[in-house]
Amino acid sequence: MPQKLIVIVGGTGRQGGSVARTFLSLPSWKVRITTRNPSSPAATELASLGAEVVQADLNDTSSIEKAFTNANAIFLNTDYWTVWRPFKASLDAEGKSYEPASEKAYETETSQGKRAVDAAAKIPTLERFIFSPLIDVIKASGGKYPRSGHANAKAWIANYIQTDHPELFKKTSLIYLGGYNDNPSLAPRPNEATGRYMFILPLKGSFRMPIINPSESTGKFVRALIEDEQPGTKLLAYDTYPSINEIVSNWGRENGKEADLIPITIQGLHEKVGLTWEHLDILSTLMETDDYMAGVDNYIEPSQLKSSKI
Ligand SMILES: NC(=O)c1ccc[n+]([C@@H]2O[C@H](COP(=O)([O-])OP(=O)(O)OC[C@H]3O[C@@H](n4cnc5c(N)ncnc54)[C@H](OP(=O)(O)O)[C@@H]3O)[C@@H](O)[C@H]2O)c1
Repeated sequence: MPQKLIVIVGGTGRQGGSVARTFLSLPSWKVRITTRNPSSPAATELASLGAEVVQADLNDTSSIEKAFTNANAIFLNTDYWTVWRPFKASLDAEGKSYEPASEKAYETETSQGKRAVDAAAKIPTLERFIFSPLIDVIKASGGKYPRSGHANAKAWIANYIQTDHPELFKKTSLIYLGGYNDNPSLAPRPNEATGRYMFILPLKGSFRMPIINPSESTGKFVRALIEDEQPGTKLLAYDTYPSINEIVSNWGRENGKEADLIPITIQGLHEKVGLTWEHLDILSTLMETDDYMAGVDNYIEPSQLKSSKI
């Protein structure tokens, strides 16, 4: 059997790197990763494992079209924070508000996603297209919380596939990643006065938060979506799905420390911890809907995958 080719956009990142390493271990697949910098340590490491590394930038249509040539499968992950972080830092330094960073990052991520989707739709060999979105916070909150650009940009891209590329949509599956296991908002802070640790969160103790190690686990789920599942599958991908109370007690047990869930309002997080509405609108939506996948219909969870290899 001739090998198939998967092209991974964001192959040097956490999600894409996991997908690359998984497919490099499968004899039936060849792996091509895209990067803006083929000489970076992440790119050269994947090259040494056998990946074809091509220079491509989601801001440059022709580089992406070239990178997708002859692909049988494409994994697309877009990155909001690459644009948001440095722009916000420059605005902070000038004493300005952060909102223009969100506007610019939203505009950039949606344009990049559109460019990649348009390019994928032109590839005649393509059988499977996997995109990694987040929930649509505007839709899930009924328009109440419009400012989480990092989630809304990805939801826009997922919707664009369906509305503007019906043939590509027939080949598409979506992988919704759980919260990253190293997400700083889920990390406790020491309370100097008591010696205990505090998880300062606006979420109820009973709220269930799917958690994934993206660098380890994304690949096995993407493999299952490509090799085992029908296109059109929406998967919530996670390693564990604990409640916030369980996250706190598990952390305390694993680290031999006493830890507490310290409730805080969204306004309190904004004023005392300095989180922007970019981060808080999605938290408000999760809190009010009591659902990490608010607004997403008909998705499956890892236990519902056909594969016995997960
Ligand atoms: N934190 C969480 O709990 C959580 C949960 C779910 C989803 N997410 C989302 O995950 C996304 C980040 O994924 P990640 O963690 O895998 O990213 P990451 O490790 O930060 O890597 C970013 C990747 O994006 C690529 N990239 C950036 N700009 C690019 C451009 N202009 N053209 C082509 N490639 C570009 C980088 O490639 P090169 O630098 O090599 O070009 C790199 O491979 C974010 O958008 C975030 O919203 C986060």
